[in-house]
Amino acid sequence: MSRDEPVTNLVKPDIRTRIDERLRELERSGLRRSLTPPSGIDFSSNDYLGLSQHPLIKERMAEAVLKEGAGSTGSRLLRGERASFSAIEKRFATFKSTERSLYFSSGYLANLAVLTTFPETGDVIFSDELNHASLIDGIRLSRARRSIFPHSDVDALHRLMREEKSEGEQFVVVESLFSMDGDEAPLNEYAELCRETGASLIIDEAHAVGIYGANGSGLIEENGISEDVFISVNTAGKALGVSGAFVAGSSPAIEYLVQRARPFIFSTAPPPSVAAAIDTALDLVASEPQRRERVLALAQTLRERLGLPGCSQIIPVVIGDNERAVRIAQELQVDGFDVRAIRPPTVPPGTARLRISINENLSEESLEQFASRLLAVLQR
Ligand SMILES: Cc1ncc(COP(=O)(O)O)c(C=O)c1O
Repeated sequence: MSRDEPVTNLVKPDIRTRIDERLRELERSGLRRSLTPPSGIDFSSNDYLGLSQHPLIKERMAEAVLKEGAGSTGSRLLRGERASFSAIEKRFATFKSTERSLYFSSGYLANLAVLTTFPETGDVIFSDELNHASLIDGIRLSRARRSIFPHSDVDALHRLMREEKSEGEQFVVVESLFSMDGDEAPLNEYAELCRETGASLIIDEAHAVGIYGANGSGLIEENGISEDVFISVNTAGKALGVSGAFVAGSSPAIEYLVQRARPFIFSTAPPPSVAAAIDTALDLVASEPQRRERVLALAQTLRERLGLPGCSQIIPVVIGDNERAVRIAQELQVDGFDVRAIRPPTVPPGTARLRISINENLSEESLEQFASRLLAVLQR
């Protein structure tokens, strides 16, 4: 082989050939994604309360960077610990009506931590079939056995639990507001079932925090079931507009995570400035409940206009075919609306969709323009 020959011309099938083939497969099935920065009116982000650009949060974060530096320099159990982390954890625990909470640098890591720490060999995890990838991955990594139940089907779950022969602990894992369908889980029924059976209820509140409940802490609060929940996971990167996540629960459970959760122990602590930013975001959730009321009212208006049931700020418009979903999203983007197509494996095969999300900054006019454009595109 000449020295000038590019490495890519190697004849032997190798990892590069395999990767090229995999990429072609994705292309053929309409599943190849591209990285596209925001442009146009936001109908797709999780910035439901519009806090990511709030001047008070930005100022507070910038001040904290100047005071405390850019990074935390180590893991929380080493030199990465800061007084601002324990302060924000205390505040978040009160917000969730739990004894204690623990801050993680992402919701993904928080779910891995919870699901790889509490369930042990011999235990069973019952998981809703539409649970988020971070819950699925946590369950895959855990040593417990998994049992998948049909979406929000409490009777089917109860049957599976009764048929279970294992003597170990049972965990029930659900999202409170499903990220791609925008529907609420029947939390009261899960709470009752877990009370009866002694199973531990784990609830991912990623899309409900900041939106639901009198204090804006989520659907656990709205349903009045905090006593029945073993652990909740609450992201700060969605309605709170910052990043990271809080695991909330009893003091011993949180202490156990500090001691044993590998995603907590073996990872650099988040920048201290995020704790400051979240503190201000929580101030705004407390002092401006009109934000969450407006989000839900706008969502209601759009749902009515599109003739879609439901009531949350996440509105799925199921298209089915992957390429058609992408084409429709692109047409709307050309018109200045930032809508994204969601395809498998994020959603089940054959259910590619537009995931429309509503945020507080949207005006009634842009909502109306978007609705008429979307209806026109869908009718074609
Ligand atoms: C239900 C759910 N849980 C967890 C996560 C992960 O949270 P994060 O983005 O903070 O990693 C997401 C993110 O999309 C989610 O939708």
